Amino acid sequence: MTAAATPWRATVPARIAGIGSYLPDRVVTNDDLAQVLDTNDEWIRTRTGIRQRHVVAPEQATSDLAIAAGEAALADAGLTAADVSTIIVATTTPDHTVPGTAPIVAAALGTEAGAFDVNAACSGFLYGLRVGTAMVATGDDVVLVIGAEALTRIVDPTDRSVAVLFGDGAGAAVLVPDEQGAIGPFDLGADGQDPSMLWTCTGGTRTPVSPEVLEDRSHFLTMRGGDVYRNAVARMTASSKLVLERAGLDVDDVDLFVGHQANLRILEAVRGRLGMAEERTHVTVDQHGNTSAASVPLALADARDAGRLTPGDTVLLTAFGAGLTWGSTLVRWHPSGTAAADQQDPTTETA
Ligand code: UT7
Repeated sequence: MTAAATPWRATVPARIAGIGSYLPDRVVTNDDLAQVLDTNDEWIRTRTGIRQRHVVAPEQATSDLAIAAGEAALADAGLTAADVSTIIVATTTPDHTVPGTAPIVAAALGTEAGAFDVNAACSGFLYGLRVGTAMVATGDDVVLVIGAEALTRIVDPTDRSVAVLFGDGAGAAVLVPDEQGAIGPFDLGADGQDPSMLWTCTGGTRTPVSPEVLEDRSHFLTMRGGDVYRNAVARMTASSKLVLERAGLDVDDVDLFVGHQANLRILEAVRGRLGMAEERTHVTVDQHGNTSAASVPLALADARDAGRLTPGDTVLLTAFGAGLTWGSTLVRWHPSGTAAADQQDPTTETA
């Protein structure tokens, strides 16, 4: 553990005061998929590292996962929904096209706080963190950022090239002010020149749903896997290096590397190019599959639950997704449950 005494350069005056996650109960293994698709456990494991994924129940939607993760994060911070100024839900699989998913989540949590969605696909949580920390820096007291996805709902269950890759879940972080600054610097980027690399071709305003669309199944997610793979490695590596450089830190200053969990081979390639030690990389893709915007906060919560985060640790987050979009930041880890104590009336504090 490095635990630098002073903040690194270009941090935002905010910190994560609590995290939480939720995974649907139903687990689908590679062998389960091999029962219904022309695939097998060996192919999926060696190409992706995935062993199983969680899948939403028929009655669940993305907001249900987001609500559970949001509740867990607030409890972890020692706060309630009444304390929240703004809720941001990062998702590319909203409950509905209209309205956003965040207002539904806010209502279920019991607040009329401002609530809106961010869609930056698998990079959505990094984008949400960037917006959320900026809001905290400009006066919001508590911002709840949730990454939530039900990707299995937009994947063609008969298309083996994508059906084996994705899973469902949600992760959340509570952001509060912190004068010293424990999040940042950020790097966000996008290249929308060829959205067809990873997209749902129809079902939006360019080609609305029609009998023809349903017939050719083009409303389901498709991906040019090799192109996405190469871009994922290059973009996450460059973006991670950029935030380290902006912070004035070296890769050896990073205590834990939490990258987007799309494919173990991608994570390994990024780790290798960064020169990061293997034991400093947290991996959940084997258990969760690719959960898009939920993957980074789910992995962060998993790392905390596994005892891999110590107060003062420097954590590198990076993600890449459809768009193309990418983003990275650094987080200095704080003990959970301290936000409520910070809000106490100082006159009632004991010595
Ligand atoms: O979250 C956003 C970011 N997403 C990603 O980063 C995903 C990036 N891409 C990837 O992870 C990889 O490209 C995949 C895992 C999707 C594919 O791995 P690949 O090594 O690029 O395989 P491929 O697409 O080149 O396919 C190789 C072979 C093909 O057969 P032929 O043409 O060589 O006979 C495929 O038809 O594997 C076949 N194949 C499968 N076989 C068994 C494709 N999917 C499957 C499958 N089971 N599920």
